[in-house]
Amino acid sequence: MCGIVGAFLRGKPCLAALVRGLRVLEYRGYDSVGVGVLQAGELVVRRKAGRIEELERLLAADAGALDEVSVGIGHSRWATHGPPTDENAHPHCDWRGRIALVHNGIIENYQELRAELALRKIPLRSQTDTEVLAHWIGIELEGAGGDLAEAVRRALLRVRGYYAIAVLSGGERPQMVASREGPPLCLASTPEGAWLASDPLALIEHARDIVFLEDGDVAELAPGKLVVRGRDGALVARESVHVAWNAEAADRGGFAHFMLKEIHEQPDVVARGLFGRVDLERGDVTLPGEFFSDASLKQVTRVQISACGTALHAGLVARYLIEGLAGVPVDVDFASEFRYRQPVLVPGTLALGISQSGETADTLAALRLARSLGCRQLSFCNAVGSTMVRESEATLLLEAGPEIGVASTKAFVAMLVAATLFAVRLGRARARLTRAAASELLGELGRMRMNLERLLTREVVDKIRALAERHKDARGFLFLARGINYPIALEGALKLKEISYKHAEGYAAGEMKHGPIAMIDRDMTTVVIASRDSVASKVRSNIEQIRARGGPVICVGDDEESLAVSDERVVVPGLSPWLSPIANVVPLQLFAYHVALARGCDIDKPRNLAKSVTVE
Ligand code: F6R
Repeated sequence: MCGIVGAFLRGKPCLAALVRGLRVLEYRGYDSVGVGVLQAGELVVRRKAGRIEELERLLAADAGALDEVSVGIGHSRWATHGPPTDENAHPHCDWRGRIALVHNGIIENYQELRAELALRKIPLRSQTDTEVLAHWIGIELEGAGGDLAEAVRRALLRVRGYYAIAVLSGGERPQMVASREGPPLCLASTPEGAWLASDPLALIEHARDIVFLEDGDVAELAPGKLVVRGRDGALVARESVHVAWNAEAADRGGFAHFMLKEIHEQPDVVARGLFGRVDLERGDVTLPGEFFSDASLKQVTRVQISACGTALHAGLVARYLIEGLAGVPVDVDFASEFRYRQPVLVPGTLALGISQSGETADTLAALRLARSLGCRQLSFCNAVGSTMVRESEATLLLEAGPEIGVASTKAFVAMLVAATLFAVRLGRARARLTRAAASELLGELGRMRMNLERLLTREVVDKIRALAERHKDARGFLFLARGINYPIALEGALKLKEISYKHAEGYAAGEMKHGPIAMIDRDMTTVVIASRDSVASKVRSNIEQIRARGGPVICVGDDEESLAVSDERVVVPGLSPWLSPIANVVPLQLFAYHVALARGCDIDKPRNLAKSVTVE
């Protein structure tokens, strides 16, 4: 949902660093791109619809004229108000060209502010909500005696909505100011320079000690300076967080796409998620803090999971694990639905939010609602320092490392690992799971790294590529499974549709005969996930029914009989049904990847999508 960057360097050129930062953040939106810099105190803006290459072409046309500038802000856009045109690209300036603004979020009352600007005869040049705020800051600059930080603070008092912004002003005293209300914004300042970005990934090449702004903060940055004030103008202290990710984590490391790299990282991700958390001897999971103690977990009467997209699918798997291993009832909701209904939460309900980014607007709102209703909150989250981690009472960090591919893969697998660990801890705390049963399951989870490696060999990958090439022109795809693998059918369909634009639906296999079977013919490919579990024979019957109607079936799993009666197959190592989703999803990710590749799609930047959905 838009990426913003800023750099204020001590006497060193900043343009290349801004463009590199935008490249790291491009996953957040790629409709248009732009920078605003200060050249001899004057604001210069370069912006363009399209991707970073467009901006690079514009900058090349300047023939080095901006090479020496040392202060600037930049933006990559995911359009909300107004189509992705040059005029709507950020930065936006006030009508006198004294300030430039980049913005991630939505100004909800922009029509009202727009009407006031019209009364003041201030002309608007774009259809964005952002430009309105730029003028408003320009207006406040007078009353603030030319101080940009104060003008921003005053202007934001008029704004309803959510935003992360960076603002630049020139003249004799250049100022760079940032503020947030909702979407993330992180900052760093050293004697050499000050930087800001929507994601710490864009900062780690410059600094590791990073300050995450809180809602309502207005910060002014310069080399060696980082002053943060609250809405009321009073100074506030913000501690920095040390971010240990390395810069290499943010490049493709020889893979054609981030998505493929991240699929191949999954064996390591599983191992990292388990590191230091498993005690086979005691048959238990070690998680730090009082929250995870027996006494605390015994008070949990129900679990309410809220999440979106792929994270929601992880939540659906978590339901099977928590109910099955810990005997605690679980509800799972789309965060976007949960937040707007009037949920009835019984005393002792634990609200569990699941999110890779920790910044998804709906998931954050769902957790806040649950908190206001008296629930304790736990999050499974990948982004250290994210809003979700900071707001939750406890967090199980996913430890998947930065996920850049817009289609989530390794974070999903890490969520399944976290769900298993939590379900085991809860089951042990409530004496529902025996030491021996827990130890066996955790031992098998420890071997998952090796099992995932077996699914990522050249041989298996080539086989899936060939399958994808044969089926890429199917009219549509149905993904079927039952039980704990039903959410994997949903996930397989989501992966395929989001990156290949083929229509795909995930269905509970038992529901097939209640409607979807009407769609079966030889142009409709069905992918069946068949694990050797208590419902294996029923899934096998579904396969027979589809084949009897001429529909091609690809079977993924470890149930030999289902594999044998299908047209094509990907064999997954035999696993306990509880853990089978972790392995079964991998061939489906690869299948989606190769269908998209064969169809020539832009895999890491699928159309209309953005990695982090910080708006509703
Ligand atoms: C799909 C995908 C999205 C996200 C969803 C939630 O591949 O990535 O469906 O899962 O937008 O994002 P997080 O996990 O950041 O809350």
